[in-house]
Amino acid sequence: MLRNERNFGSPRDRVDGRAKVTGAAQYAAEFNAPDLLHGYVVSSTIAKGRITSIDTQKALDVPGVLKVFTHDNRPATAWFSSSYQDEVAPPGTPFRPLYDEQIYYSGQPIALVVAESFDVARYAASLVEATYEAGAHETDLKLARAAAYVPPKKRQGMKPPASKGDAMAAYAKAPLRIANDYSIANEHHNPMEPHASTVIFEAGGKLTIHDKIQGVMNTQSYVSGVFGLPASDIHVVSPFVGGGFGSGLRPQYQLFLAVMAALDLKRSVRVEMTRDQMFTFTHRPETINTVLLGADKTGRLSALRHQAVAVTSRFEDYQEVVVNWSGILYDAENKQFDYRIAKVDTYTPGDMRAPGAPLGTFAIESAMDELAYAGNIDPLELRLRNYSTRDETTNKEFTSKELRACFQLGAEKFGWSRRSPAPRSMREGRELIGWGMASGCWEAQFSKTSAKAVLTSDGRLEVGTATADIGTGTYTILTQIGADALGLDMEQVTAKLADTTLPKSPVEGGSWTAASAGTAVQMACEALKKTLLQEAQKIEGSPLADAKYEDVVFANGRIAMADDAGRSLDLSDVVRHSGQSEIEEQATAQPDSKVQAQYAAYTHSAVFVEVRVDEQLGLVRIPRIVNAVAAGRIINPKTARSQVTGGTVWGIGMALHEESLTDHNLGRFMNHNLAEYHVPANADIYDIDVIFVPEEDDKVSPIGVKGLGEIGIVATPAAIANAIFHATGKRIRELPITIDKVL
Ligand code: MOS
Repeated sequence: MLRNERNFGSPRDRVDGRAKVTGAAQYAAEFNAPDLLHGYVVSSTIAKGRITSIDTQKALDVPGVLKVFTHDNRPATAWFSSSYQDEVAPPGTPFRPLYDEQIYYSGQPIALVVAESFDVARYAASLVEATYEAGAHETDLKLARAAAYVPPKKRQGMKPPASKGDAMAAYAKAPLRIANDYSIANEHHNPMEPHASTVIFEAGGKLTIHDKIQGVMNTQSYVSGVFGLPASDIHVVSPFVGGGFGSGLRPQYQLFLAVMAALDLKRSVRVEMTRDQMFTFTHRPETINTVLLGADKTGRLSALRHQAVAVTSRFEDYQEVVVNWSGILYDAENKQFDYRIAKVDTYTPGDMRAPGAPLGTFAIESAMDELAYAGNIDPLELRLRNYSTRDETTNKEFTSKELRACFQLGAEKFGWSRRSPAPRSMREGRELIGWGMASGCWEAQFSKTSAKAVLTSDGRLEVGTATADIGTGTYTILTQIGADALGLDMEQVTAKLADTTLPKSPVEGGSWTAASAGTAVQMACEALKKTLLQEAQKIEGSPLADAKYEDVVFANGRIAMADDAGRSLDLSDVVRHSGQSEIEEQATAQPDSKVQAQYAAYTHSAVFVEVRVDEQLGLVRIPRIVNAVAAGRIINPKTARSQVTGGTVWGIGMALHEESLTDHNLGRFMNHNLAEYHVPANADIYDIDVIFVPEEDDKVSPIGVKGLGEIGIVATPAAIANAIFHATGKRIRELPITIDKVL
């Protein structure tokens, strides 16, 4: 592909930055309609059982209340006779709000109060009285794990690797041995923008929906599938997402309730989640890993067994990749993997930034650190001795793997060689100092994505695809790619996203959007350029009449002969002469099945952390982190850096703060607010140094891009836990590492 890279690879400001900071960017709950109604959700107070009665009269008596929807009076919808599953649904039966009197989890929506104003709806909702017959619930994984099972139906790509050799026999004979459990608490996504849906009811029953979603096509097909409406009657437009992190991959219940109410009342309806209610749907599943390592005296692994068990709901088999990462990172003669799930009475867990990876990586990278101390080997050296040169879990070569360079450049920047090996050997005042490291990987995925490229008669380019920008910088990188392709300035290019009238695209997730949508936009631009040349050649007396596509360049708003700039035409003149108001081309990018059959593609990272632990108070500070990442070609180092920095901050949250605490008597998450669910604040964050290691990869995607929305978090929690051990001599195998565990 012809590359004219004035913007690709250069740090560029976000094209949507001004709209976001000035409030011009509209989010799902900010769209309005005349006579908009407001819905407020009533949530169940028990975790399991059934509603015996629900009294809505007091709510209905409040002036301004139109209707209270419950399982007793909800309209029949297509959903209730079909088994529709959304684009990202795990195997099982999706939860159906207000379907019947059964309660599956605490916080389950049991009624929707619809009123003329939000405040009236909220007040009236407080007057709805439900009585229950409670059943015996279980929310404790430590007890539920006895009934854990291998999911009979796998989510795509979620099979644990096949075993190799005899891990237990090799372990029994190994001079160095490690065997421990490593667990991670339930965590909830807390994007700044809570979930909301504004459903605009139009004459004739068509709907325009503004939904908090990471992919408008998923909302459209969900509403179509669940309510039995033709997709053409459902227009979803959600141009801005105030953070997704996976919580917006699947449509959540506020969408169902808002659409149900709008169709029933034939009015526009908005349903917003409160921050409390953000804890009543998707979350990262509590997971317990068991890792067993056997090695010779030099640290060379002979046995690696990684098992994990995680929670799921009663109605869906949520799964994520937890144990595979060990087998991808390390070579060992004998390996064994096992991944199970256990049903508890909560809502179905879901993908949260790098789903599964920081959980399994915390386990294997803690265990490797323990092995390093057991063998008196430098932790970085131990990783180099067991470095995998091919992906044994799939038996494929890597498209590229610059993890060695991550180790080298990260260690240099951090000053790793000056580390004093013994725990508790570095101190300043009353603070113990610890240096720890860990490595990680994340799949470099590519998803089938279509895009369009349109040149208008004023010489402007518009590129578009239906996927979202969940804050990652997608608008900006697609603008860069479009500008480079047509030889325009970024100011002459507009990127359009998150509208179901745009070419089809999957959800923004899995770190695949930069590679997939970026390639699709590049291909659409190439197709547009070919058409523009053809149109240019139709112009009478065209100076490009006999030019081949290979012989022309697009620059400064013109098509010109590469070897004779004098022979050129203005792009806007070409559009005008075509007799059309604009010229549009579309293209679809899809993975190369031959490459996929032969190669495995991952991003990699090496994270180096310094912690300072107050010995008396147990407070952990993290003055500096170096996160060295290999993620192929970097389209925009500025937005890329902010992705990895954000992931690293979240890694600090996972290591030290985040935990959704359950009262197992009530079967309920208790700290359902940002006062008690702790996330890092500015005062917790010091220096985070992100290094992008050069990595050329012509196989992973046509533009050499791997994607990096998720790799930042993957190895960070393990590196922090390892640094805390180095500081204190205390090995903590349960995240988050709170003060009580440090002391
Ligand atoms: Mo990501 S957890 O696929 O939004």
